[in-house]
Amino acid sequence: MPEARAPELLAWSNAMVGMYQARRDRATEDAAVAAAIAFSGYLRELVALRRRTPGDDLISHLIAAGDALSPEELISTCILLLNAGHEATVHTLGNGVKTLLEAKVAPEALAPDRIEALVEEILRFDPPLHLFWRWIHEDMEIAGHAFARGSRIGCLLAGGNRDPQVWERPGRFMPDRLVKPNLAFGGGAHFCIGAPLARLELQVALPILFARLPGMRLKGKPRYADLYHFHGLETLRVVR
Ligand code: HEM
Repeated sequence: MPEARAPELLAWSNAMVGMYQARRDRATEDAAVAAAIAFSGYLRELVALRRRTPGDDLISHLIAAGDALSPEELISTCILLLNAGHEATVHTLGNGVKTLLEAKVAPEALAPDRIEALVEEILRFDPPLHLFWRWIHEDMEIAGHAFARGSRIGCLLAGGNRDPQVWERPGRFMPDRLVKPNLAFGGGAHFCIGAPLARLELQVALPILFARLPGMRLKGKPRYADLYHFHGLETLRVVR
């Protein structure tokens, strides 16, 4: 999408994810629907433009896939990618900055040969999405617990990321941990399709931020937003 439209994308996206929130009211729902209509309208224009003048971008590639996606599926896929593609990454950036400042992590931990481990530890320690639901398709037993076909379970990804059987001192932020899979991006068939992009964004953005603002420290206590779906910050004040 053209960068100039970023503010609108942000506003639409924020309004649309209001639909996931607990305690949502009619006004939140109306705003979400209005944003979805405006966003789809804009994307229809953009798709038409890319049909006329294709480029090396995701929408052009999706169009080139031909009949694989109906026009409605193309629009909803673009909305899903743009929506899922920035909300979680934004929250991880905030959570990560908070964690790095709280733990007073030395700037060397952001060096090119250490940034991958650092970002994985941020994702493990304070992921932006904690809970996803699944249906049980057949009776089964996992770790001594029986699960009956037809029941619904909540998968606490953030809890799994602090499993003491998997992680040594799980409640401690340790930027030099050996890199191994964590559950921040889910697992199985619906594993996050954007994980490589999100990792890249975090690995690029955090070193730039800390290089531009050396000596950054927290001003006051960061405050998490009281939201159901996203685990991210409402307030993160910093000074130099
Ligand atoms: C730090 C950033 C991110 C985190 C922590 C994250 C986390 C997740 C998780 C946990 C799921 C699995 C949901 C489930 O099991 O039902 C998921 C799915 C998904 N994510 Fe991400 N995500 C991030 C960034 C992105 C980005 C950058 C994109 C796209 C550009 C993206 C697109 C998607 C899509 C389309 C799905 C649905 C996949 C499916 O159902 O098959 N995500 N993400």
